[in-house]
Amino acid sequence: MIITSFKSNKFPNYRLSIAPMMDYTDRHFRVLMRQITKKSLLYTEMIVAQALHYSKNRNKLLDFDEIEHPISIQLGGDNPNLLAEAAQMAEDWGYDEINLNIGCPSPKVKSGNFGACLMGKPKIVASCLEKMKKSCNIPITVKHRLGIDNLDNDDYLMQFVDSCSIAGADRFIIHARKAWLNGLNPKENRTIPPLQYERVQKLKNERPELIIELNGGLNTINECIKTLKIFDGAMVGRAAYSHPYIWTKIDSMIYEQTEENLSRSKIIKKIIPFAQKHLDNDGRLWNIAKHILNLIETIPNAKILRQELSEKCQNSKSDVSILKKIAQQLEDAGH
Ligand SMILES: Cc1cc2nc3c(=O)[nH]c(=O)nc-3n(C[C@H](O)[C@H](O)[C@H](O)COP(=O)(O)O)c2cc1C
Repeated sequence: MIITSFKSNKFPNYRLSIAPMMDYTDRHFRVLMRQITKKSLLYTEMIVAQALHYSKNRNKLLDFDEIEHPISIQLGGDNPNLLAEAAQMAEDWGYDEINLNIGCPSPKVKSGNFGACLMGKPKIVASCLEKMKKSCNIPITVKHRLGIDNLDNDDYLMQFVDSCSIAGADRFIIHARKAWLNGLNPKENRTIPPLQYERVQKLKNERPELIIELNGGLNTINECIKTLKIFDGAMVGRAAYSHPYIWTKIDSMIYEQTEENLSRSKIIKKIIPFAQKHLDNDGRLWNIAKHILNLIETIPNAKILRQELSEKCQNSKSDVSILKKIAQQLEDAGH
């Protein structure tokens, strides 16, 4: 058997990544996370290949700021030609990687025949990956589950991964729980099926040459460091969104970069120019401020500051002065 996803220097090795999350990992959240970690790979929300094909406003779907690099676009779809076209567009637009979503269990996604249900259709996935690989020169990665419904055993998982690898997948991000496509909603599918890291570890042991990143339930940098002793990468989702400040030591602890003392006030000040640019383009401050809220926790008066930020930024006429004020208050309090 020819396995193509060798560990090699061909592509950068991102040890840590921030997971794609629909309605959360928009441009503004990514700009916030980029202040917190310069080295980690950031993901877009899932973009459906078909939507990209028919969209009259592709810029809006594809645009990102230069500082967001390295950035992976997550695509959804089951049509090899549309996915190949989307992959080519993503490369032309400047994305660093492309990720195929084979993990989303939502009924809407299932009815479109993509996301997690494709774990049951490895031939379709392989032909999508082959066409995507042919259409561009950047890495194509796959994010998937341990299994779906009754297709949930170690042999099936390995066959699925082998088939993707032969088709050209460069890295696997495995959300270490199965998904039930009937009976559980997407939120329940992120909590009820138990995490089974040992099954991903078994796969890694049997396929050491594949680049395998673990996802699911990683809550601290130390947990990620432990994960990296076994796996090639660690992906963090909800814990990064809900508690962004605890990740400020990623670059020093994981990427061995010299440590910058990143206070909460410094992070907010660095975001202000992006907020101003967004306002200049008729955007609303709340689009940005809603992500900043989670930065303000575990300090005295956090609740009051969050309330102030939340109340004042939801007004459609809000400008960056409120961000400046909050940053100053935090700085004065030593945060
Ligand atoms: C609100 C939300 C939206 C999500 N949207 C996506 C998505 O669009 N694509 C995807 O592959 N995973 C999506 N996920 C799943 C996450 O990427 C991740 O696999 C999951 O949350 C487990 O990681 P965690 O325990 O670190 O959060 C989403 C998760 C959440 C909480």
